[in-house]
Amino acid sequence: MPARIPLSWPIHAYAWGGLLLLLFQALSGHLGPNPIQALELRTGRGAVIFLLLSLACTPLHRLFGWQEALRQRRRLGLYALLYATLHALIFIHLDYGLAWSTFQQTVLEKPYLIFGISAFLLLVPLGATSFDTWKQRLGRNWKRLHRLVYLVLLLVVVHVALSQKGNLLTLQGQILRPLVYAVTGGLLLFLRIPRRRR
Ligand code: HEM
Repeated sequence: MPARIPLSWPIHAYAWGGLLLLLFQALSGHLGPNPIQALELRTGRGAVIFLLLSLACTPLHRLFGWQEALRQRRRLGLYALLYATLHALIFIHLDYGLAWSTFQQTVLEKPYLIFGISAFLLLVPLGATSFDTWKQRLGRNWKRLHRLVYLVLLLVVVHVALSQKGNLLTLQGQILRPLVYAVTGGLLLFLRIPRRRR
């Protein structure tokens, strides 16, 4: 595996390119019959993709000694947070026009939102403490704290599974996406475990 391919530019290009394309499509009316829903879905999917890519960094380093992957971990995680923030803001602002009482009512009616909000609330401190100063300040606890990213992924899988017409437990209906997220996340977690412990 090549040791010195700088990945930051392709990552920036993918992240900002995706957002610019979305903005362009929104402004030019190319987001289909339900543009707000399209914005929600695409920012949500973007957040999961960046989350999974950030989780892939440690296994890539472990398996192939790929240092560059480790260097990109924080960047990918922060892009996951950016996309998740936009996803949440689009829902709260465009869908509900910041009408808090209606928003609260909807959250109570749709349990998948509780899982999404919980995932988001956990993701924020992980993003905020991802910088080196926090790493030094928190010492060993930094690693413990950042293991919560797997809980974030679990919450997101439930959030997505419940938001669609399918049942992940009986494997019926629209379950492909949450299943792919769950299996990929599980595999990445498994690959993280050192070989001798496995
Ligand atoms: C405040 C937190 C959140 C809110 C209010 C929220 C809201 C929503 C809503 C309303 C949908 C359904 C859209 C539809 O079917 O019309 C949805 C789906 C989704 N959300 Fe969230 N969400 C939140 C957090 C998150 C987070 C943290 C992630 C990922 C890191 C995420 C990823 C997704 C994905 C992937 C989908 C499904 C997209 C698809 O159908 O392919 N959400 N969310």
